Parts: sequence; C-alpha cells; structure tokens
Amino acid sequence: MDRNIHTVDDVLRLLDGLFAPEADRWTADGAAWWDDFYADRSRAVPFFAAKPDENLVEYLERDLLGPGRALDLGCGPGRNALHLASRGFEVDAVDLSPAALAWAEERAGAAAARVRFLPGDAFALADGGALRGPYDLIYDSGCFHHLPPHRRISYLALLDRSLAPGGHFALTCFASGAMGSELDDADFYRQSRLHGGLAYTPASLRRIFGDLTEVELRRMHDESPGSACFGEPFLWTALFRRDARP
Ligand SMILES: C[S@@+](CC[C@H](N)C(=O)[O-])C[C@H]1O[C@@H](n2cnc3c(N)ncnc32)[C@H](O)[C@@H]1O
Repeated sequence: MDRNIHTVDDVLRLLDGLFAPEADRWTADGAAWWDDFYADRSRAVPFFAAKPDENLVEYLERDLLGPGRALDLGCGPGRNALHLASRGFEVDAVDLSPAALAWAEERAGAAAARVRFLPGDAFALADGGALRGPYDLIYDSGCFHHLPPHRRISYLALLDRSLAPGGHFALTCFASGAMGSELDDADFYRQSRLHGGLAYTPASLRRIFGDLTEVELRRMHDESPGSACFGEPFLWTALFRRDARP
C-alpha cells in the first residue's frame, strides 16, 4: 500500500509518472529519447544549424540585455549559449542529453568559447544547488513547451530562485494555431501523452509569467536558409524582466 505523498515534489513526481514512459522528454529518463534525437547530426532539423535565435541577436543589438551571467536552459547543441559567450556573457548551459552536450562542447571548442555545460535535469540541478544563480539572463529556446503542465511549477520555482533582481527571462515556444498540441492541460494527463509539445497563446504566457514584466512578445521572424540567424514563424519569442527590487 503506497502512502508516499508528503510534499509538493512528491505530487510533481506522481504526475510525471502518469505519462507513458515513451512520452517523457523532460526528466532524466527522457535523456535517452533526446540522445537518439541528436544522434544523426546531418538530419534537416532547423535548430541543428549553428545559428543563434534571431530574437536573441536582436535583443543584444537593441541593448535590451547587458552582459552578465546567463543560463541557457535546455541548451541542446549550444547555439544560443555560444552566441551569448561571444557577446561577453558568462554562460552556464544545461541539458538532459549527453549527446547534445557533447555536440555543444565540440562547437565551443572550435569557437574557443567558454561555456560551463551541465548535464542533467535543470530542475533537479536547481534544487540541488548545482545551478549557480543568480543569473542576469535565463534563456530558453524550445524547452518549456516540452514540459507537462505541472512542471510549470518547477519552472517558475527555478526562475524565482535563479533569476537576479532586474534580470531578464527570454523564451521561444510553440505558437498556438501554428505548432504544438492545443489540448487542454487536463487532457494531456487523460491521454498520458504530450503529443510533441504544448501550444501556447500570448494570454497563457502572460498569465504563467505574470510575476515578471513583459518587455516584448512577438512571433519569431521567418529567417531564410542563408540567414546568419535561426527563425521559425511557428514560435513565440518573449522577453520578460524581473523587478529590480528583491
Ligand atoms: C527542442 S530542444 C532545443 C535545444 C536548444 N535550446 C536549441 O534551440 O537549439 C529542447 C531541449 O530541452 C532539453 N530538456 C528538456 N527537458 C529538460 C530538463 N528538465 N532539463 C534540462 N534540459 C531539458 C532537451 O534535452 C532538448 O535538448
């Protein structure tokens, strides 16, 4: 007889377990799925190209972000982490997938970029103190929409713990009507699946990140294959700022 629910973390783990094992893209057990995803680097996956997000490049060009300490959350092969390092940020970059981090480390070596790569589940690492915040920028390109609804609690706790007062949080995620599943939150649990990721509306993002101040929320620009930047119009790009008062 199981009576093991004592804490919010126990509830979060219980909810993780309601999903089919093959649907897991967000816990340590999901690392193997991502390793397989990154195994063939020649696949035509848009974000495999070693280019930074166009919105990140633009924030920096517009001086919306000053140099400081940055965390790339779910960094994959490291394209945005490397761009931040090249712009003078001291960068930590975390990912579940050892294959992604091996690729990112190769890229960092080739570019002589200094990035501290951390393997593992960002939420477990944040809880264990391995993420050495506070960060002036937390950047997430494409990780948040792979989380089940209840892990937004872990995500907001990570932001609360790790984002410096006055710091920025930037996100790209699936745009409703263009990409991602439009199911209601509860239906993901009923179906034990996330269907490749969750779609978000601007209103849902504003509500979820309502403790932060919105700087900009727009669709990502459609960048041509020859562009120096990555850009896909099925994504939202959002930039939020934390109040400077602690
Ligand atoms: C769609 S990929 C995006 C990769 C990278 N940000 C990019 O845009 O090139 C999402 C990444 O999030 C990572 N991820 C998912 N859940 C995570 C977690 N709990 N902790 C750390 N990384 C996670 C996956 O391993 C995967 O590499």
